[in-house]
Amino acid sequence: MGVISMQVMAQQNTINEAVHIIPEPVSLQVNAGYFHLNRDTRIIYTTKQASGIAAIMKGMLDEPTGFHLTVKNENTETADNVIILRLNTRPNTKLGDAGYTLKVLPDKVLIAANKSRGLFYGMQTLMQLFPPDIESKTVRKAVKWQIPSVNILDYPRFGWRGLMLDVSRHFFSKQFVEAYIDEMAKYKFNVFHWHLADDQGWRIEIKGLPKLTEVGAWRVPRTGRWGTFKGPQPGEKATAGGYYTQEDIREIVAYAQKRFVTIVPEIDVPAHSLALIASYPNLSCTKQQYSVTPQYAPGGVDNVLCVADDSTWLILDKIFTQVAALFPGEYIHVGGDEANRSFWTKDPKDQALMKKEGIKTPAELQSYFEKKLEKIIISKGKKMIGWDEILEGGLAPEAAVMSWRGIEGGIKAAKMGHHVVMTPTGNCYLDYCQGDPLVEPAAGGRLTLSTCYKFEPVPDGVDAKYILGGQGNLWTENVPNGRHAEYMTWPRSLALSEVFWSPKNKRSWPDFVRRMDARLKYMDISKVKYARSAYDAVISGVKNADGKLKVKLATEIPGLDIYYTFDGTNPDNFYSKYEGTALSIPKGATEIRVITYRDGKPIGRQINCPLTEVAKRIQK
Ligand code: ACM
Repeated sequence: MGVISMQVMAQQNTINEAVHIIPEPVSLQVNAGYFHLNRDTRIIYTTKQASGIAAIMKGMLDEPTGFHLTVKNENTETADNVIILRLNTRPNTKLGDAGYTLKVLPDKVLIAANKSRGLFYGMQTLMQLFPPDIESKTVRKAVKWQIPSVNILDYPRFGWRGLMLDVSRHFFSKQFVEAYIDEMAKYKFNVFHWHLADDQGWRIEIKGLPKLTEVGAWRVPRTGRWGTFKGPQPGEKATAGGYYTQEDIREIVAYAQKRFVTIVPEIDVPAHSLALIASYPNLSCTKQQYSVTPQYAPGGVDNVLCVADDSTWLILDKIFTQVAALFPGEYIHVGGDEANRSFWTKDPKDQALMKKEGIKTPAELQSYFEKKLEKIIISKGKKMIGWDEILEGGLAPEAAVMSWRGIEGGIKAAKMGHHVVMTPTGNCYLDYCQGDPLVEPAAGGRLTLSTCYKFEPVPDGVDAKYILGGQGNLWTENVPNGRHAEYMTWPRSLALSEVFWSPKNKRSWPDFVRRMDARLKYMDISKVKYARSAYDAVISGVKNADGKLKVKLATEIPGLDIYYTFDGTNPDNFYSKYEGTALSIPKGATEIRVITYRDGKPIGRQINCPLTEVAKRIQK
């Protein structure tokens, strides 16, 4: 290679380094030169439908810059110092409804799309090209608001790019939910699955059923690790919880619609229904009066709706009629997971129903329940989706399946010609621990950032047209506040956004890490909390041929150095560096302490790991 072309390449690399878009676009060319935003820059939209996007863009740019940008409806593309939002008069078939092209030139920016949705995503990409201060909620003076020249063509791989938030185990305010949706939309997520009802709280006002929010929305307060909580004590008041009024819901729906996020509400039935049953005890088989529980429904507690009882169907019809009217999206999620069906086998009414209908097993009785529920959902003009248990005993005719116990349920449903959303625990459960449990807050399971990134939603041998997409799920048993919900969501959902949006062949872990490093600086300024767990060392054990324990160290993120001690002191980069060979344990040592560095600076957390713990982590 000649000296000149090497210089050109080096220059190109520096230019490319300045661009760090997540999710990675379908095609991206970085050119020389910059567009500079100043107070005279105008936002122009060529058709009225784009006025909403232009207004959102103005808000996002005015806030950190302090400019008061002019927004105009004009059909010109010749002006300069403009950001143009153009709806294509002749559709670009490559782009579909959500795709866009984005051209940044030194004198103008042009976003073009077939639909407003595409313009919105083009705008989100544009925002990621500005310096990190663009995320500031207050005016930043003396910032050069420059963005690199690019030529981008982009569209999503999947139509369902979801995040689920469980607001039952812990309640999250309307303000938090809106901020969460806003953050999702930056990374082109378009489905917010709202888990609104479970054993620990009912969160949605239903007119004519006041007990749901007077009783079902409240439980006794508990702090600490889930699983250690006592149930309600005699005379103790249920003061923890909350709910969304229908007015709140309408506001959140409108807020989400502006950001092209569809809300999929979930009312989890027939099980996980203790908050509903505590409000209306005639709904369970045992008809006992229970309290809303601060943790999992204790064994023997009947948190399952009676299938045969007319009251069940009267109330479900009321609830789903109102839910269907409140949420404009096409799907309603009906739960269906983890039903303890043994209550049905002990219940004379359900037994009589099974006999009458020729139903042989409790799983088939659940299938009967789901099919009857689907009729209600369809009669309201909606489609039904449920957790993969709804497959057992026979799937309702038109139901979509959310596959969570691995991908097998999804494969089975797709092979039956049903639509599927892939959310397997092993790649998508954001309540799982994302780093070393020795330094992470309480969480069950394990899901690292790179495991999210490796997820492939379309299994071999499955027709991709049945896979609507995928979703990250944040259950909140151990998530008592909003900051921690953010910590569990980011950056793992950056990885998932790329899985759900970008072409499969564009995925590159080292390049994702480079772009994530940059994006986290933006999150520092937007003050969204995120986890740095992926920068920590990964500690495990190996057994020597002679049976002796050795310590193996690794990092998820490439290019980090690991320093360690066995003598109880805190390592830094003056201590021994791990060179890739498992470490023999010095006599008398009881723990290893490790820390990661990058470019001579600490980057991960120090982890102190007892050697007894290392022994438990022996790799098979
Ligand atoms: C689930 O995690 N129970 C769907």
